[in-house]
Amino acid sequence: MSPFGRHFASDNYAGICPEAWSALQEANQGHVPGYGDDPWTDRAADLIREVFETNCEVFFVFNGTAANSLSLATLCQSYHSILCHELAHVETDECGAPEFFSNGTKVLLAQGANGKIDPAGIERLVKKRSDIHYPKPRVVSVTQATEVGTVYSVAELKAIWAKAKDLKLRFHMDGARFANAVASLGVAPKEITWQAGVDVLCFGGTKNGTHVGDAVVFFNRELAHEFEYRCKQAGQLCSKMRFMAAPWVGMLRDGAWLRHAAHANQMAAYLHEKLKDITELKVLFPRQANSVFAELPKAVIDGLHARNWKFYTFIGAGGCRLMCAWDTTEGDVDAFVADLKTLLTKG
Ligand SMILES: Cc1ncc(COP(=O)(O)O)c(C=O)c1O
Repeated sequence: MSPFGRHFASDNYAGICPEAWSALQEANQGHVPGYGDDPWTDRAADLIREVFETNCEVFFVFNGTAANSLSLATLCQSYHSILCHELAHVETDECGAPEFFSNGTKVLLAQGANGKIDPAGIERLVKKRSDIHYPKPRVVSVTQATEVGTVYSVAELKAIWAKAKDLKLRFHMDGARFANAVASLGVAPKEITWQAGVDVLCFGGTKNGTHVGDAVVFFNRELAHEFEYRCKQAGQLCSKMRFMAAPWVGMLRDGAWLRHAAHANQMAAYLHEKLKDITELKVLFPRQANSVFAELPKAVIDGLHARNWKFYTFIGAGGCRLMCAWDTTEGDVDAFVADLKTLLTKG
């Protein structure tokens, strides 16, 4: 059992980080206008523009599913299609929301190693058909970091961009764990977004320590035209917007967003180090962000669950997903690995 009350199920399981919490408290004073017309929302959007070193358009919505679905709907007509990896969250974990909010835009799936779509896969999907009966490919969507904890390099993103340009596709990035990708690559955020051709980024906050609210960031500002109406119609315009924006201010103003992401990545690296040489288990993907995927014997999975460890076994391509968060400690990892080893020796 976890002696610290923390688990490896999801970075969503973690609480609110101190920087987001204190900004929320600061914001909880007096009256300010609602619906985003307040100083906290302005400041949060300005900080995002500073982080990306460009004049992007920024909107806050309640969660990642809304961010992905509404931004993808904006990039497409209903007769278009969205190309993504077969393990992409937009395909596997959004209950059809991208199709719903786009009035039927079809999601087309590409394969690729380590959860990544590649330029050849994109070309295959686009060139498979050119007749009017096929939903016209319009957007390529990548997840950064991916659903299996890997990270697209700058070169990989630029290769996708080159192909997208060639094929007249727009470029969408699901960045639910964008911070972990930036921390992993050690690059400036602009290098893996607008400088790599990304039109729109869904910038995740909740997995990195905020309580609610992801940002939709349009680098291609023309595409943001009337996006606020789409948000309102979808029930995604928060009336007390300052409380969705303030945690972003807390996270961004002194770099906490990157510190927390780097820490979560480091804990996953520590966990990976402890697991990689255990012969009875198999690590499934390169460990690059804040998760480790491993195949464990069923008896061990059951034993860990019986000891009240929570982790998922249905994400990605199978195996156990062990996800670290901003507040995971070496003690958590040590306790988990100790229980795992005890169960393995019991056979
Ligand atoms: C890759 C990815 N994208 C998007 C999301 C956002 O989902 P939610 O709507 O739960 O915030 C998640 C959350 O698990 C995710 O893992």
